[in-house]
Formats: sequence, C-alpha cells, structure tokens
Amino acid sequence: MSLVVLISGRGSNLQAIVQAGLPVVAVISNRADAAGLEYARKRGLATTVVPHKDFATREAFDEALAREIDRHAPRAVANAGFMRILTPGFVARYAVRIVNIHPSLLPAFPGLDTHARALAAGVKLHGCTVHFVTADLDGGPIIAQAAVPVLADDTVAALAARVLRQEHVLYPRALAWLLGGKLVILDGRVRVEDPDEKQFLFAPDA
Ligand code: GRF
Repeated sequence: MSLVVLISGRGSNLQAIVQAGLPVVAVISNRADAAGLEYARKRGLATTVVPHKDFATREAFDEALAREIDRHAPRAVANAGFMRILTPGFVARYAVRIVNIHPSLLPAFPGLDTHARALAAGVKLHGCTVHFVTADLDGGPIIAQAAVPVLADDTVAALAARVLRQEHVLYPRALAWLLGGKLVILDGRVRVEDPDEKQFLFAPDA
C-alpha cells in the first residue's frame, strides 16, 4: 500500500500528504529545482528527477517517468502540482490509480490561471477538485471537492491561499480513500464506500 508523488514545484500538497501520514515511497519531479524535492530529502524520502527537457517527445519522457514510478510498484500515483500533460498511453497504464488536485471547482476553469479566471468571471464560490487522471485534461472522474467563498476585495494571491488551505485538507483525505480501496467509479461518477465520509467540503469562513 504505497504512494508515489509527482511534483514540479513548491510541494505544499506533498507536505500535507506526508504530514497526514500517508505511505509516500518516492517523490519524482520533472524539475531539479522543485522546492518540494528539498522537503522530501529532509524527510528521508527517495527522490528522483526526470528532466522533461532531456527527452525529444512526450512519449519518451512518459516512458522514462513510468520506469521510475514502477521501480516502487506503488498502489497509487498522486500528481501534486505536476505541470506536465501526460500521454494517453501513460494515463492508461495507471488507470484508476493516478489522481490529481486541480485548483478550481471542475468542470469550471480547467487549465492554468484558475484563480485569476475565477475572479474575472465574478463567481462567488471557488475551490479545488481531486479527480482521477484520464486523457481528458482536468476532466477525469471527480473524487472530492472543497469550496470557499470569493470575497469582494479578493486578490489572486488571497484567493489562491484560501483555496490552498483546503487543498491540504482535501487531498490527503481523498488519497486515503484511494489507498484504502474505498472508491467506486460507476458511469464516470465516483462514490466513497463509507457512510461517514463526505466527498465535499465547504469552508465558508476560511
Ligand atoms: C496547487 O494549487 C495545485 O492545485 C495545482 O498546483 C499547485 C501546486 O502547489 N495543481 P504545491 O506545489 O502543492 O504547493
């Protein structure tokens, strides 16, 4: 029962996952300067860098990444701020055991700059989504969502920070379900098989 975490940068979700006591066996980054690698090393976790720039094609990069992941034979793979678009072959290889956290209430605002786009759209609720990764970018089955209010005087930074606090609660929770074999997907919809668990979180005063 183990987890490989893929990162590209800061690694605050990685920290939340580790601090929640989830069984992280390795952290892999496509960037050598990802701050999260430093945290992982300090915690004594195995770290590897697979620099995407070393590969001529997405397929070749994904092949090298998969080799690194498979060395650890993990039960699941968690993308935590991993900024690469994955090929359909890679995604199929880890079907139903690779997940991602995205900083919006999907299907609203897939892609980048979600907080600025939420502010520009004038939405009153924003948040984050944990979902299975499929070939459809930010479009896989939704496991859990956390909502926060958008305040009248919000800046991108303030809104991003409010969402991030909920990411750190939501992601470890969803990963524990996945590792515990509690998730069922039916007709593209995900259910957690535990009456005490909720797949949503609302932080009105966050
Ligand atoms: C988070 O906002 C996550 O939702 C998005 O990228 C960011 C990663 O932050 N996918 P961190 O590296 O976990 O601090």
